[in-house]
Amino acid sequence: MQEINIPTHIAFIMDGNGRWAKRRLMPRKYGHKMGVEALKRVIAACDKLGVKEVSFYALSTENWSRPKDEIDALLGMIKKFADEEMKDYVDKNYRVRFMGELHRLPEETQKALKSIAAAAMNNTGIVVNIGINYGGRDEIARAAARVAERNLPVTAENIDAYLDTAGMHDPDIIVRCAGEKRLSNFMLWQSAYSEFVFVDDFWPDFGEETVLRIIREYSGRERRFGGLK
Ligand code: FPP
Repeated sequence: MQEINIPTHIAFIMDGNGRWAKRRLMPRKYGHKMGVEALKRVIAACDKLGVKEVSFYALSTENWSRPKDEIDALLGMIKKFADEEMKDYVDKNYRVRFMGELHRLPEETQKALKSIAAAAMNNTGIVVNIGINYGGRDEIARAAARVAERNLPVTAENIDAYLDTAGMHDPDIIVRCAGEKRLSNFMLWQSAYSEFVFVDDFWPDFGEETVLRIIREYSGRERRFGGLK
Protein backbone atom coordinates (compact mmCIF):
# COMPACT_ATOMS: atom_id res chain seq x y z
CA MET A 1 0.00 0.00 0.00
CA GLN A 2 1.23 3.48 -0.87
CA GLU A 3 2.30 5.55 2.11
CA ILE A 4 0.26 8.71 2.49
CA ASN A 5 2.16 11.90 3.15
CA ILE A 6 -0.20 14.51 4.56
CA PRO A 7 0.79 17.96 3.30
CA THR A 8 0.94 20.96 5.63
CA HIS A 9 -0.75 23.40 3.24
CA ILE A 10 -3.04 22.81 0.26
CA ALA A 11 -4.18 25.73 -1.90
CA PHE A 12 -7.21 25.35 -4.15
CA ILE A 13 -8.16 27.32 -7.26
CA MET A 14 -11.90 26.70 -7.28
CA ASP A 15 -12.96 26.42 -10.91
CA GLY A 16 -15.75 25.08 -13.07
CA ASN A 17 -18.76 26.31 -11.10
CA GLY A 18 -20.25 27.86 -14.23
CA ARG A 19 -19.74 24.78 -16.41
CA TRP A 20 -21.07 22.51 -13.67
CA ALA A 21 -24.28 24.58 -13.58
CA LYS A 22 -24.55 24.83 -17.38
CA ARG A 23 -24.47 21.04 -17.68
CA ARG A 24 -27.51 21.00 -15.41
CA LEU A 25 -29.22 23.79 -17.37
CA MET A 26 -28.96 25.95 -14.26
CA PRO A 27 -27.72 29.55 -13.89
CA ARG A 28 -24.03 30.14 -13.08
CA LYS A 29 -25.06 31.44 -9.64
CA TYR A 30 -26.33 27.98 -8.78
CA GLY A 31 -22.88 26.60 -9.61
CA HIS A 32 -21.31 29.06 -7.16
CA LYS A 33 -23.90 28.15 -4.51
CA MET A 34 -22.96 24.48 -4.86
CA GLY A 35 -19.33 25.61 -4.90
CA VAL A 36 -19.82 26.94 -1.38
CA GLU A 37 -21.09 23.49 -0.31
CA ALA A 38 -17.93 21.95 -1.82
CA LEU A 39 -15.82 24.51 0.02
CA LYS A 40 -17.38 23.40 3.34
CA ARG A 41 -16.78 19.71 2.51
CA VAL A 42 -13.16 20.33 1.53
CA ILE A 43 -12.39 22.34 4.68
CA ALA A 44 -13.94 19.60 6.85
CA ALA A 45 -12.03 16.87 4.97
CA CYS A 46 -8.68 18.68 5.24
CA ASP A 47 -9.22 19.25 8.95
CA LYS A 48 -10.13 15.59 9.45
CA LEU A 49 -7.05 14.40 7.51
CA GLY A 50 -4.67 16.58 9.51
CA VAL A 51 -3.83 19.23 6.89
CA LYS A 52 -2.75 22.31 8.86
CA GLU A 53 -3.45 25.13 6.38
CA VAL A 54 -5.81 25.51 3.43
CA SER A 55 -6.12 28.40 0.99
CA PHE A 56 -8.89 29.14 -1.50
CA TYR A 57 -9.27 31.57 -4.40
CA ALA A 58 -12.80 32.94 -3.98
CA LEU A 59 -12.63 36.23 -5.89
CA SER A 60 -9.76 37.55 -7.97
CA THR A 61 -8.81 41.14 -8.75
CA GLU A 62 -9.88 40.29 -12.32
CA ASN A 63 -13.28 38.73 -11.49
CA TRP A 64 -14.93 42.16 -11.14
CA SER A 65 -15.36 42.27 -14.92
CA ARG A 66 -18.03 39.54 -14.66
CA PRO A 67 -21.74 40.48 -15.03
CA LYS A 68 -23.01 42.50 -12.06
CA ASP A 69 -25.61 39.95 -11.01
CA GLU A 70 -22.94 37.20 -10.79
CA ILE A 71 -20.65 39.45 -8.74
CA ASP A 72 -23.55 40.43 -6.47
CA ALA A 73 -24.40 36.76 -5.99
CA LEU A 74 -20.78 35.94 -5.11
CA LEU A 75 -20.58 38.86 -2.67
CA GLY A 76 -23.85 37.71 -1.07
CA MET A 77 -22.44 34.19 -0.66
CA ILE A 78 -19.25 35.52 0.91
CA LYS A 79 -21.29 37.56 3.43
CA LYS A 80 -23.53 34.58 4.21
CA PHE A 81 -20.51 32.32 4.57
CA ALA A 82 -19.00 34.84 7.00
CA ASP A 83 -22.18 35.14 9.07
CA GLU A 84 -22.83 31.42 9.27
CA GLU A 85 -19.92 29.10 8.53
CA MET A 86 -16.97 31.27 9.52
CA LYS A 87 -18.50 32.07 12.91
CA ASP A 88 -18.78 28.35 13.47
CA TYR A 89 -15.14 27.91 12.39
CA VAL A 90 -14.05 30.42 15.03
CA ASP A 91 -15.87 28.34 17.67
CA LYS A 92 -14.19 25.20 16.31
CA ASN A 93 -10.76 26.78 16.96
CA TYR A 94 -10.06 27.28 13.23
CA ARG A 95 -7.94 30.28 12.35
CA VAL A 96 -9.70 32.22 9.58
CA ARG A 97 -7.70 34.71 7.55
CA PHE A 98 -7.95 36.51 4.25
CA MET A 99 -5.66 37.55 1.47
CA GLY A 100 -6.41 40.34 -0.98
CA GLU A 101 -7.74 43.82 -0.53
CA LEU A 102 -11.06 43.79 1.26
CA HIS A 103 -11.72 47.50 0.69
CA ARG A 104 -13.60 46.87 -2.58
CA LEU A 105 -16.23 44.84 -0.75
CA PRO A 106 -19.44 46.26 0.70
CA GLU A 107 -18.76 47.96 4.06
CA GLU A 108 -20.77 45.46 6.12
CA THR A 109 -18.98 42.50 4.50
CA GLN A 110 -15.60 44.04 5.26
CA LYS A 111 -16.67 44.53 8.87
CA ALA A 112 -17.91 40.95 9.19
CA LEU A 113 -14.70 39.50 7.69
CA LYS A 114 -12.40 41.65 9.78
CA SER A 115 -14.21 40.84 12.99
CA ILE A 116 -14.02 37.09 12.23
CA ALA A 117 -10.30 37.26 11.44
CA ALA A 118 -9.74 39.17 14.69
CA ALA A 119 -11.81 36.72 16.75
CA ALA A 120 -9.92 33.76 15.26
CA MET A 121 -6.47 35.29 15.53
CA ASN A 122 -5.33 33.26 18.52
CA ASN A 123 -7.00 30.03 17.48
CA THR A 124 -4.70 27.06 17.05
CA GLY A 125 -6.58 24.72 14.70
CA ILE A 126 -6.49 24.53 10.91
CA VAL A 127 -5.79 27.83 9.14
CA VAL A 128 -8.49 28.65 6.57
CA ASN A 129 -7.15 31.35 4.28
CA ILE A 130 -9.48 32.84 1.68
CA GLY A 131 -8.45 35.05 -1.24
CA ILE A 132 -11.01 37.79 -1.84
CA ASN A 133 -10.28 40.56 -4.35
CA TYR A 134 -6.93 38.81 -4.44
CA GLY A 135 -4.20 38.92 -7.07
CA GLY A 136 -0.68 37.55 -6.66
CA ARG A 137 1.02 40.42 -8.45
CA ASP A 138 -0.94 42.97 -6.43
CA GLU A 139 0.01 41.17 -3.21
CA ILE A 140 3.74 41.17 -4.09
CA ALA A 141 3.62 44.85 -5.10
CA ARG A 142 1.85 45.77 -1.82
CA ALA A 143 4.39 43.80 0.21
CA ALA A 144 7.32 45.43 -1.62
CA ALA A 145 5.80 48.88 -1.03
CA ARG A 146 5.46 48.16 2.68
CA VAL A 147 9.10 47.03 2.85
CA ALA A 148 10.21 50.22 1.05
CA GLU A 149 8.02 52.46 3.27
CA ARG A 150 9.79 51.04 6.32
CA ASN A 151 13.20 51.60 4.73
CA LEU A 152 13.97 47.89 5.05
CA PRO A 153 16.31 46.13 2.62
CA VAL A 154 14.30 44.69 -0.27
CA THR A 155 15.08 41.03 0.36
CA ALA A 156 13.00 37.92 -0.25
CA GLU A 157 12.68 37.43 3.53
CA ASN A 158 11.34 40.95 4.05
CA ILE A 159 8.87 40.72 1.18
CA ASP A 160 7.72 37.37 2.53
CA ALA A 161 7.10 38.95 5.94
CA TYR A 162 4.75 41.55 4.44
CA LEU A 163 2.70 39.28 2.20
CA ASP A 164 -0.94 38.64 3.12
CA THR A 165 0.16 35.10 4.04
CA ALA A 166 2.90 36.23 6.46
CA GLY A 167 3.57 33.50 9.00
CA MET A 168 1.95 30.74 6.92
CA HIS A 169 3.81 27.87 5.24
CA ASP A 170 4.09 28.00 1.45
CA PRO A 171 1.56 25.65 -0.16
CA ASP A 172 2.85 22.11 -0.64
CA ILE A 173 0.17 21.61 -3.28
CA ILE A 174 -1.65 23.96 -5.62
CA VAL A 175 -4.80 22.33 -6.95
CA ARG A 176 -6.35 23.53 -10.19
CA CYS A 177 -9.55 21.81 -11.21
CA ALA A 178 -12.06 21.71 -14.06
CA GLY A 179 -9.36 20.68 -16.54
CA GLU A 180 -7.61 24.07 -16.49
CA LYS A 181 -3.84 24.28 -16.12
CA ARG A 182 -3.05 27.85 -15.16
CA LEU A 183 -2.10 29.73 -12.00
CA SER A 184 -4.31 32.74 -12.87
CA ASN A 185 -2.42 35.17 -10.60
CA PHE A 186 -2.88 32.93 -7.53
CA MET A 187 -0.17 32.78 -4.83
CA LEU A 188 2.59 33.60 -7.32
CA TRP A 189 5.24 34.14 -4.67
CA GLN A 190 4.22 31.31 -2.39
CA SER A 191 4.02 28.67 -5.16
CA ALA A 192 7.75 28.79 -5.99
CA TYR A 193 8.23 25.14 -4.93
CA SER A 194 4.62 23.93 -4.75
CA GLU A 195 3.58 20.70 -6.41
CA PHE A 196 0.81 21.28 -8.95
CA VAL A 197 -2.06 18.83 -9.05
CA PHE A 198 -4.54 19.14 -11.91
CA VAL A 199 -7.88 17.40 -11.70
CA ASP A 200 -10.71 17.34 -14.22
CA ASP A 201 -13.47 17.48 -11.58
CA PHE A 202 -15.54 20.65 -11.45
CA TRP A 203 -15.27 22.41 -8.09
CA PRO A 204 -18.88 21.74 -6.96
CA ASP A 205 -18.13 17.98 -7.12
CA PHE A 206 -15.22 18.25 -4.67
CA GLY A 207 -15.31 16.42 -1.35
CA GLU A 208 -13.24 14.14 0.86
CA GLU A 209 -12.67 11.60 -1.93
CA THR A 210 -11.21 14.30 -4.20
CA VAL A 211 -8.93 15.56 -1.43
CA LEU A 212 -7.67 12.02 -0.78
CA ARG A 213 -7.00 11.49 -4.48
CA ILE A 214 -4.99 14.73 -4.57
CA ILE A 215 -2.99 13.79 -1.46
CA ARG A 216 -2.26 10.35 -2.93
CA GLU A 217 -0.93 11.92 -6.11
CA TYR A 218 1.20 14.33 -4.07
CA SER A 219 2.52 11.47 -1.92
CA GLY A 220 4.06 9.89 -5.02
CA ARG A 221 5.97 13.05 -5.93
CA GLU A 222 9.62 13.58 -5.11
CA ARG A 223 10.39 17.11 -3.90
CA ARG A 224 13.89 18.48 -4.17
CA PHE A 225 13.39 22.23 -3.64
CA GLY A 226 16.10 22.95 -6.21
CA GLY A 227 18.65 20.63 -4.55
CA LEU A 228 19.88 17.19 -5.51
CA LYS A 229 18.34 13.95 -4.37
C1 FPP B 1 -14.64 29.78 -10.79
O1 FPP B 1 -15.66 29.13 -11.52
C2 FPP B 1 -15.11 30.16 -9.48
C3 FPP B 1 -15.18 31.44 -9.02
C4 FPP B 1 -14.79 32.62 -9.81
C5 FPP B 1 -15.69 31.74 -7.68
C6 FPP B 1 -15.42 30.74 -6.59
C7 FPP B 1 -16.35 31.03 -5.50
C8 FPP B 1 -17.05 30.16 -4.73
C9 FPP B 1 -16.87 28.71 -4.76
C10 FPP B 1 -18.10 30.62 -3.80
C11 FPP B 1 -17.87 31.86 -2.96
C12 FPP B 1 -16.80 31.76 -1.97
C13 FPP B 1 -16.91 31.88 -0.62
C14 FPP B 1 -15.71 32.03 0.21
C15 FPP B 1 -18.20 31.86 0.08
P1 FPP B 1 -16.12 29.74 -12.90
O2 FPP B 1 -17.30 30.59 -12.66
O3 FPP B 1 -14.99 30.48 -13.56
O4 FPP B 1 -16.49 28.46 -13.69
P2 FPP B 1 -16.40 28.22 -15.26
O5 FPP B 1 -14.95 28.28 -15.62
O6 FPP B 1 -16.99 26.87 -15.43
O7 FPP B 1 -17.20 29.30 -15.92
